Amino acid sequence: MCGIVGYVGKQKAASILIEGLKRLEYRGYDSAGIAVLQGARIDVAKKTGRVDVLAKSATRRRFTGATGIGHTRWATHGGVTDANAHPHLSSDGKFALIHNGVIENHAGMKKFLLEKGYTFASETDTEALVNLVAYHYEKEPVTDGKSRFLESVRRALMHVEGTYGIAILCTDCPGEIVAARKASPLVLGVGDQEYILASDVAALVSRTQNVVYLKDGELLHLTPANFSIITQDEEDVSPVVDRITWNIADAELGGYRCFMEKEIFEQPAALENAMRGRFAEDGSTALFGGLNLTPAELRQIGHLVFLGCGTAWHACLVAEHLIERFARVPVEVDYASEFRYRNTPLDRDTLFFVMSQSGETIDTLGALREARRKGFKVLAINNTVGSSIARESDGGIYQHVGPEIGVASTKAFTSQLLIAALVALHIARMRDMSFNDGVEYVKAVKSAPALVHRVLEQAPRIREIAKRHAHYKDMLFLGRLSLFPIALEGALKLKEISYIHAEGYPAAEMKHGPIALVSPECPAVFFAPKGEIFNKLVSSIQEIKARHGKTIVITTEGCELPPGVADELILLPDCHEAVLPIVATIPVQLLSYYIALERGCDVDKPRNLAKSVTVE
Ligand code: G6P
Repeated sequence: MCGIVGYVGKQKAASILIEGLKRLEYRGYDSAGIAVLQGARIDVAKKTGRVDVLAKSATRRRFTGATGIGHTRWATHGGVTDANAHPHLSSDGKFALIHNGVIENHAGMKKFLLEKGYTFASETDTEALVNLVAYHYEKEPVTDGKSRFLESVRRALMHVEGTYGIAILCTDCPGEIVAARKASPLVLGVGDQEYILASDVAALVSRTQNVVYLKDGELLHLTPANFSIITQDEEDVSPVVDRITWNIADAELGGYRCFMEKEIFEQPAALENAMRGRFAEDGSTALFGGLNLTPAELRQIGHLVFLGCGTAWHACLVAEHLIERFARVPVEVDYASEFRYRNTPLDRDTLFFVMSQSGETIDTLGALREARRKGFKVLAINNTVGSSIARESDGGIYQHVGPEIGVASTKAFTSQLLIAALVALHIARMRDMSFNDGVEYVKAVKSAPALVHRVLEQAPRIREIAKRHAHYKDMLFLGRLSLFPIALEGALKLKEISYIHAEGYPAAEMKHGPIALVSPECPAVFFAPKGEIFNKLVSSIQEIKARHGKTIVITTEGCELPPGVADELILLPDCHEAVLPIVATIPVQLLSYYIALERGCDVDKPRNLAKSVTVE
């Protein structure tokens, strides 16, 4: 949801900014732009389209300066045009600003600034802020050695309602950047005689692994020699330099066609990483270092609430199934965006979990804050160390699967399912699950990477099935129990990356509506794994066949289907219920991916989407 990057150092800034923007492109790809300080001038290049388009136009220009800022946009205020692309200049040309977030009171600000004679060249909310900075710069006297640049940004931000991650250049201050954040992420890379500022570490990991995460309400002042951080109330902040464990290979394609393909195929390793070090020595339960709850506190929990958005919400639904099934604790699942405004009645013995790959989704962060405001403990299942959600939660579990760059979530989802299975085990073993059942469960979870690997080996067959289905306009995904959320996830993956309309539905509910869609033109992907309700699932498939529907059936090796029921068949290895959702996800990821490839879609950057949604 907009990526921002800034550079202060000794190298030419333009190429470093463009490299950073390429790595942040998953955050938005409507337009891209850079601004570089060249002597006492700010030069700007900005273009609608991908970063590559900007890179071509920037190489024709002579950008020699060593201080600059860059932005890749996911449009909110104002259409996708060159004029609306960031950076935005103040009307006096003294400041350039990039912004991730939404300035909610921009209309009032703009009216005020128009009256003062400032002019506007775009329809964005951001341009009001850059002009407000210029206004304060002109207006404020310089007092007792303070930076006038920093002070005018601080004063301008006092009038802002909304969210922002911003970085600003000023023609009077060569080699300086002022940056600030409120609800939109910003991280500073501290390199060798250089600083790189970015929305996330992917953009700076090629230059340094030493980082400082900015907190909400903080302002950062970069100069060629140093950096300092203050709060909105002018208190000095002592920065904590963290070391990130991701390396540059994590953020590169390494021979794969796209990141989604890479991330699908690296799931066995990702699952190993997510479970490493998380089993008790006796082999019967899971351990977590960061829950910050005593076993007695955990035992007293009466209810759990899981919150998330998009794919993470589907992982919450699987968590509900596994925890209720194995730990026998009632679980509520809600969309984070709904929860934060619904004012749900809650029992005092409720514990919250939020699920978020990025740790920056604004709705999930808002829901976390709302639950904490009401005095509840909130734990986070999250993939991004140092993210807002990780920092603001009371404890949690990192997914440890490395950066996920493809916009459509794959390895982050299956690792969330794995952690959900471990949480269910952890709580179950404090309650009624026996030692022996715990040992069996642990063995099952440990087998997940190998089982996923076996499904991945079917990729060539699934690709053939995809070729035969790439021309359809509609598809159904049907499943029951823990595979109902996987049906939702299959439908979401397909519509996200191939633009085929798809619906996920509980298989038995099909007869209450979606069956009206069944026809030879609307194939149904049907999960029918081995289990107590296998025969009922087969009956539902037969209802589709009776109406001349086409079926892709995903079942367990060794299950016998009546003849003619499956037009296409995908087999899952037999497995424990705790890992079935993980194993069953792989075929629908592959199917969606190959269908999107057949249709020539840009799999890593689907239209209108962004990986990390930091606006409401
Ligand atoms: C966006 C992404 C989805 C993701 C959702 C939640 O909509 O496109 O793939 O599932 O945000 O993201 P989070 O980072 O909170 O898991």
